Amino acid sequence: MVASQRSPRRILITGGAGFIGSNFVHHWCKQYPGDRVVVLDALTYAGNQASLADLEDLETFRFVQGDIGDRALIDTLLPEENIDTIAHFAAESHVDRSILGPDAFIQTNIVGTFTLLEAFRQHWLKRDKPGRDRFLHVSTDEVYGSLNADDPPFTETTPYAPNSPYSASKASSDHLARAYFHTYDLPTLITNCSNNYGPYHFPEKLIPLMCINILLGKPLPVYGDGQNIRDWLYVGDHCQALDVVIHQGLPGQTYNIGGNNEVKNIDLVYMLCDLMDELAPDLPIRPARELITFVKDRPGHDRRYAIDATKISTELGWNPQETVAGGLRRTIEWYLAHPDWWQPLLSEEYQKYYQQMYQGV
Ligand code: NAD
Ligand code: DAU
Repeated sequence: MVASQRSPRRILITGGAGFIGSNFVHHWCKQYPGDRVVVLDALTYAGNQASLADLEDLETFRFVQGDIGDRALIDTLLPEENIDTIAHFAAESHVDRSILGPDAFIQTNIVGTFTLLEAFRQHWLKRDKPGRDRFLHVSTDEVYGSLNADDPPFTETTPYAPNSPYSASKASSDHLARAYFHTYDLPTLITNCSNNYGPYHFPEKLIPLMCINILLGKPLPVYGDGQNIRDWLYVGDHCQALDVVIHQGLPGQTYNIGGNNEVKNIDLVYMLCDLMDELAPDLPIRPARELITFVKDRPGHDRRYAIDATKISTELGWNPQETVAGGLRRTIEWYLAHPDWWQPLLSEEYQKYYQQMYQGV
């Protein structure tokens, strides 16, 4: 949307210190410099204020450290900032951690989302239900379950079949967001997107983990047979899609967002290795493919995700722009240029998690 053709918004971005959230905060501040942007983030292990460091001096920007489950805090924040739009990213987001310990996923993803929805409803009622207000609930394609090789991609009407504690908690929160529109007319919108990648991605996820391990000369742990398929979406394309949904999407609707980039995990790792060989001057082990190590599979590992993004393309005119080859190159270049961002994240706490997950690999 062209900034000059709209009236400013006052947007609350939850989880804005996380991977997609911080990319979205940058996108929004650049696109709409006249908007008030308030970030609410609990700064869990996955939240990082350094991802927003360049925005801290903006007068229009405010960072609040807090939990989406803290009703008193949100009841204060929404009227104080006269919020008219919520972009809700805050969540526990890593499937492997949900298998190791699901409690936080239930608390944040389900109870936290409920708390936020209910607080926003009360705020919206007091503001006399403005029709332009929006609550965007950012969700995942994992709620639809797993596809076989020949199955058609997920559409917005694919039945929910979540397989992990993470995806089950996201599915629950989607149902709450949907119900708040149907019962209360609260202007909620839901997006279900595929695997994102790009700058500010926490090291535990496949792409940053592989990049960092290649730089450190550590084994590259590929789960199972490496034949699982994901549909990779460059995070900048995702942010643009969410922008379009907030401005043009119909309340009560769900939009699937995908990258049109289905790749087998092992092929993605090969691409990363070859790009790192090309772009990183001083690798400890070269060719990087020598580091590939097949490890025990993730329990309940979904075989394939794929998104049919026809609805958002035809109804809202959004299409992804980035190819996997181009997006991976940009991502690697970003990690090579920003060791100051990712090195501090390899903390003692992270090493403990890594040991527990990968058991000596
Ligand atoms: P992330 O783990 O990188 O970031 C999550 C952020 O939420 C962190 O900054 C964390 O501090 C914050 N947070 C966690 N619990 C909180 C709480 N109780 N209160 C306030 N803040 C809290 O996650 P991400 O990868 O950026 O994902 C963002 C959203 O997008 C999530 O809802 C996720 O389910 C969804 N999603 C992610 C992907 C992906 O590929 N990363 C794909 C589809 C959907
Ligand atoms: O599909 C959207 C989802 O994508 C989001 O909802 C999640 O928040 C996000 O974390 C992501 O989930 P995945 O489980 O698909 O992403 P992850 O990066 O953890 O893993 C991608 C694939 O790579 C998956 O098939 C598991 C595999 N993998 C992952 C890791 C971390 C490995 O083979 N080795 C690894 O070390």
